[in-house]
Amino acid sequence: MTRPKIELGDVTPHNIKQLKRLNTVVFPVSYNEKFYKDVLEAGELAKLAYYNDIVIGAVCCRIDPNNGRKLYIMTLGCLSPYRRLGIGSMMLEHILNYVEKDGNFDSIYLHVQLNNDVAIDFYKKFGFEIVETKQHYYKRIEPADAYVLQKTLRNKVPNGEEHKDGK
Ligand SMILES: CC(C)(COP(=O)(O)OP(=O)(O)OC[C@H]1O[C@@H](n2cnc3c(N)ncnc32)[C@H](O)[C@@H]1OP(=O)(O)O)[C@@H](O)C(=O)NCCC(=O)NCCS
Repeated sequence: MTRPKIELGDVTPHNIKQLKRLNTVVFPVSYNEKFYKDVLEAGELAKLAYYNDIVIGAVCCRIDPNNGRKLYIMTLGCLSPYRRLGIGSMMLEHILNYVEKDGNFDSIYLHVQLNNDVAIDFYKKFGFEIVETKQHYYKRIEPADAYVLQKTLRNKVPNGEEHKDGK
């Protein structure tokens, strides 16, 4: 059997409906028009994942509006038959490479539902940690509480120098 072709591609006005459809299937939360408008302007921070030219996953991030040095992962997911093939890792690595190259981000974070053990294991593998529990974070789904998962990209030390990975 030949190996499948797995690649990432841009989100464009031409394929944004595929992203909408995918998010409807993958996430229990629905996203509004503003979300999709912002995604179209997100550049490398929003990507579709293709498996043999079919859209099967996507990642959408934004720079935290309250703190330009924090990157927020709004959504990252793939259709269930295409899980555990390394596609989630490929999408997350794309984002981690982006923030590393940019060099200006202190941390990257996201919310997950408390019972989403798969996602928690996935993110922990990449060095994310649970830093907070937000009660009643979700309005229309149960459990309504969320964990904040965060990966610190660099720490400030007292003399003002910055060290990657806390070293
Ligand atoms: C979380 C998610 C994105 C992972 O994507 P994926 O493509 O299946 O992940 P990968 O194949 O790259 O897995 C990487 C590692 O994560 C961990 N992992 C992934 N799925 C796992 C599972 N079902 N059980 C335990 N560990 C798991 C493993 O350590 C895995 O490495 P391994 O396969 O070498 O053991 C996917 O399960 C998903 O789309 N879930 C629904 C959406 C969601 O909850 N997103 C997170 C909130 S934004």
